[in-house]
Amino acid sequence: MYSLAKITGIGTHVPEERLTNADLERMVDTSDEWIVPRTGIRERRVSAPDEWSSHLAIKAVDNMLARYPVTLDQVDLILVATATPDTSFPSVACQIQDHYGLPDTGALDISAACAGFVYALHLANGMITSGLHRKILVIAAETLTKITDYTDRNTCILLGDGAGAVMVEACPADQASFIHTRMTTDGSAGIHLYKSDLATHIRGKEIIKNGYMIQNGREVFKIAVSTLSREIPRLLEQTEYTLDDIDWFVPHSANLRIIDAVCGRLDFPTEKTLFSAEYFGNTSSASIPLALQMGLDEGKVKQGDLLLLSGFGGGFVHMSSLLRWTASGRRV
Ligand SMILES: CC(C)(COP(=O)(O)OP(=O)(O)OC[C@H]1O[C@@H](n2cnc3c(N)ncnc32)[C@H](O)[C@@H]1OP(=O)(O)O)[C@@H](O)C(=O)NCCC(=O)NCCS
Repeated sequence: MYSLAKITGIGTHVPEERLTNADLERMVDTSDEWIVPRTGIRERRVSAPDEWSSHLAIKAVDNMLARYPVTLDQVDLILVATATPDTSFPSVACQIQDHYGLPDTGALDISAACAGFVYALHLANGMITSGLHRKILVIAAETLTKITDYTDRNTCILLGDGAGAVMVEACPADQASFIHTRMTTDGSAGIHLYKSDLATHIRGKEIIKNGYMIQNGREVFKIAVSTLSREIPRLLEQTEYTLDDIDWFVPHSANLRIIDAVCGRLDFPTEKTLFSAEYFGNTSSASIPLALQMGLDEGKVKQGDLLLLSGFGGGFVHMSSLLRWTASGRRV
């Protein structure tokens, strides 16, 4: 009886158009010299005006199907992590179901901001290990540039578009990917990072502008660093592993300075982290699969490696997940 879950494939996609720091210098009062040391970001990808998260998601799934010996046959649930769905409803997941003509599948978008991919993996693992599902397509897809205020230099320098997809399937216990997770939430800090279409207040605090991502960068920075450096040791304490056992740390690629600060506090080597924002910007939920794909393409991540994924973002939400990389059989 197959009772646990493993990741069997991964694919990613980013749009063609690049937005460099030099381009941003022509749009707002900023400079490459200011952006790079504070964020580690040099470029971002920007979706076309008629290109939405569902389009990027489909290309990421196609990329996975081309690179791994997985199929969409018998997928019984589609989970899409996105902070930028094409529409509130229908969900992006429903559009994926229709595009591939998948019969007998549930479809659900997950709202967990930049932690969405790790949340979706956690849900997929739980649903498969409970015996309720056997094969789940997990996608993270974002078109953040569509909710970016290009007059706000504090935020517009960060954001980019992209998507990643993985397949999670039932497997025997000795092949399982997932080891342990830890999640925390601090709704009291929600006002420091949000995007609202309807409300004018968040828990009594007035929001600035509807339709755009708004942040208090300094607060976000502090919350991200303190949360990850506090919660990662707590996660590991509940396992038989230590930081020394981790082959690759894959935190949400919000900003290289956040990752440097977390690694400094944990005394973890920054060289063992994967970061996708240098050329893709902060792609929210898509940043972790993009970083993983880069690590695989560069020959860093290998089958059997112990990975620590840490998502954090608007909410504030955080989820860290310890897992073994199990996908294999790349065709290219
Ligand atoms: C956004 C961020 C890069 C700003 O860096 P910072 O060092 O905190 O900068 P501050 O906001 O304190 O601003 C310092 C100065 O730089 C200026 N500044 C802000 N953005 C700038 C830009 N893009 N270019 C040039 N100057 C800028 C500010 O106006 C301020 O000027 P002042 O001192 O004359 O008032 C940083 O706070 C950050 O990375 N936060 C986390 C954001 C994030 O990761 N969000 C997503 C999480 S999922």
